[in-house]
Amino acid sequence: MSLIPKEIVDQVLNQADITEVVGDFVSLKKKGQNMWACCPFHHEKSPSFSVSPAKGIYKCFGCGKAGNSVQFIMDVEGTSFPEAIKYLAKKYSIDIPEEQHDPEYAREQSERDSLFIVSDFAAKHFQQRLTSHEQGSIGQSYLKQRGLSGNTIRKFELGYSLDEWTDLTDTALKAGYQQKYLEATGLTIVREDNKKYDRFRGRVMFPIHNVSGRVVGFGARTLKSNDKKSPKYLNSPESDIYHKSNVLYGLFQAKQAMRMQDMCYMVEGYLDVLSLNQGGIENVVASSGTSLTEGQIKLISRYTQNITVLYDGDAAGIKASLRGIDLILELGLNVNVVTFPEGEDPDSYIHKVGDAAFKTYLKEHSQDFISFKTSLFAKESAGNPVRKAEAIKEVVASIAKIPDAIKRTVFFRSCSLIFDIDEQVLISEYNKMHLEGRQQQRPGNPEPNYAAPAPAPEPEKPASDADVLKRYEREVIRMMISYGTKAVDENQTVIQYMLEQLEDVELEIPIYVKLHNRILQQFQQGYVVKGEDLVNDPDEEIRSEVIELISNRYDLSHNWETHQIYVPNEEDLLMYGIERAILRLKRMKVQMLLKTEMEKLRLVTDPGEQDRQLNYILNLKAFENQLGEMLGIVVNK
Ligand code: CTP
Ligand code: MN
Repeated sequence: MSLIPKEIVDQVLNQADITEVVGDFVSLKKKGQNMWACCPFHHEKSPSFSVSPAKGIYKCFGCGKAGNSVQFIMDVEGTSFPEAIKYLAKKYSIDIPEEQHDPEYAREQSERDSLFIVSDFAAKHFQQRLTSHEQGSIGQSYLKQRGLSGNTIRKFELGYSLDEWTDLTDTALKAGYQQKYLEATGLTIVREDNKKYDRFRGRVMFPIHNVSGRVVGFGARTLKSNDKKSPKYLNSPESDIYHKSNVLYGLFQAKQAMRMQDMCYMVEGYLDVLSLNQGGIENVVASSGTSLTEGQIKLISRYTQNITVLYDGDAAGIKASLRGIDLILELGLNVNVVTFPEGEDPDSYIHKVGDAAFKTYLKEHSQDFISFKTSLFAKESAGNPVRKAEAIKEVVASIAKIPDAIKRTVFFRSCSLIFDIDEQVLISEYNKMHLEGRQQQRPGNPEPNYAAPAPAPEPEKPASDADVLKRYEREVIRMMISYGTKAVDENQTVIQYMLEQLEDVELEIPIYVKLHNRILQQFQQGYVVKGEDLVNDPDEEIRSEVIELISNRYDLSHNWETHQIYVPNEEDLLMYGIERAILRLKRMKVQMLLKTEMEKLRLVTDPGEQDRQLNYILNLKAFENQLGEMLGIVVNK
C-alpha cells in the first residue's frame, strides 16, 4: 500500500463534507442544527444517527459509532485508512500525485480501467439484448419461468447473449473497443487461425460485480435443460480485474443488508442469490460452486462476523464442504448452518414454500456449525468405537480452529454432551493436536497450549467481579448526579440520555440501586437531581455516599484516551467519558451473565435445549465483543 502524502490527506479532510459523504449512504433529515437518519451500523426504527455539519462528525446515540468523514468511510465500507482517503479523493476529484508519477503503475491502472470499461459495455449490451432484441424474449421467458421479477432482473443487471457467433465482438469493435481488452476479459475468444468468436452465446448472463459495484466478469447459464455437450454454467476466466478467490457473487448488492442484519447468508448458486433477494432476504452471497477462500471470508468480515451457510440437501455435498467451513472458524467468524430437504436448494425451496415460510424455516433450522458437525458424526459413528474415535478427532480439529478460548470451551462442553464422553477426553485430544501443530510451526508462537477452561493467570486483575461491578455502577451514578443538567445535544440532557441508556441495565449494588431509583423518580416529576441537593438528604446512607461521590473528585481524565479523530472540546470529552462509563458497565454485566450461562450449559442434557443455550451464549459473546470494540479494546475473535 503506497503511502498517501500528508498534504493530500489534509486536502481530503478539508474538502470532504460530512453530510455529502454520509448522504451517499443514508438519507439525512435536518432537525435543529444536526441532520438525522436511521443508523447504517445497527438496526433501528427511529433515527438516532446524527451528523453535525458544523463539527464535521457523525455520531450514533444508539450504537456509539462516531467519527469524521474518513472514519465513516472506513466503518461503512470496512476499509483501511488509505483506502478511505482514496475513496474520498476520488469523490472530490483530488489527484493523488504519487501514483501518477509512477509510470508503470499508471499504465497498469489504465489497462485495468480499460478492462472495467469493456466489461461494463458488455453488461449493458447483454441487458439491451435481453430487453430489446427479438431473441431476448427467449431469455426473458426463461427467467420468468425461474420465477424472477423484472425488478430482480434489473437490480442484478441480468442480460442475454444472442445465440450467434460474434454478436458481442462485432458490436464492441464497431463501437471502438479494442480487441485486446475483449480478449483479456475473456469475452472474445481468438482462435489460432485468428478467427474471433464470443465466449458467451445463447445464455442468460449474470454480471459479477466487485465490492464497489463495477462489473468484473460474468456467469452465464445455458437455457437448455440437459445439454451434455456444453456446461450448464460458463464463467469468465481470471483476468487483471477478476480474481475468483476475491469476489463473491451478490456482495455488492448484499453488503448494506449484511451490515444491518449483522449476518451473511452463504449459498452456492446465482439463482439462490436472486430468489432469496426477491423474497426479501438481501444479505446473501454465493460462492459460485467453489469452496470459500480466505479472501472471500475477509471480504465478508468487513461487514459482519456471522455467516450462515445454506446447504443444498444432499449429504455428500455437505461432507465435502465441511473443510471449507473450518477456514471460516479459523478466521474467527461465527458459523451457523441450515440444511434443506433432500433434492432442494435454497432457490427451489423458497419457490416451493413461499417467502414467509422460508424465513421461518431459516430461523428454526439454523444450527451452529460445531453442533451440526458433531451431531452428524455422532450419528454416523454410533455403536462403532473405532469410527467414534475418528469422529471425535474430526470434530476436535474444527474446534481447534476457533481462536477464541471461551468459544472453544463452550463447544467442548456441548460436544462432550452430544458424544456422551468426558470433556477432558476432548481437551486432551485438543492439546495433543495443538502440540503437534505447534511443533510443526515456527517456534515462538506465544499462544499457550491449554484449551479449556482457560487457567489464564492474570496478575494485574486482582479485583473480584463484585468490586469491579461496584466501581462501574458508582461511576455512572456519579456522572448522573454531577452532570445531569448538561446538554448532550440541543434535544437532550445528560440525565435523559443516561437514564435511557441504562433502561435495560439492572444495577445490583444496593446503594446505587437506591440512588438510581431516586434519580429516576425525581426525573419523572420534572427534577434533575444534583449531588449538592442530595448532600442534605434525610436518608443517611444516601447522604454519606453522595458526599463521598462528589467530594472525592475521581479523576476522569485518566480514562480519556487520546482521541484520534478530532480535537474535542470540554463538552465532547464529557460525552466521551459518559459513554465509556455506560459501555464499561454494560460489558461487565454481559461478562457476568456469560459466566452464569456457561454454568447453566453444564446442566442441560436435552440436545435441542443445548443448542438454544449455546446459541444464546454465542450471542452474548458477540455482544461482549461488540461492546469491547466500542471501548477500543482489541478483542480476541
Ligand atoms: N457452477 C459453475 N459451473 C458449472 C456448474 C455450477 O460455475 N458447470 C456454479 C454456479 O455458480 C452455480 C453453482 O455452481 O450457480 C451451483 O451449481 P448447481 O447447483 O449445479 O446449479 P444451480 O445453482 O442449482 O443452478 P440452476 O438452479 O440454474 O440449475
Ligand atoms: Mn438450482
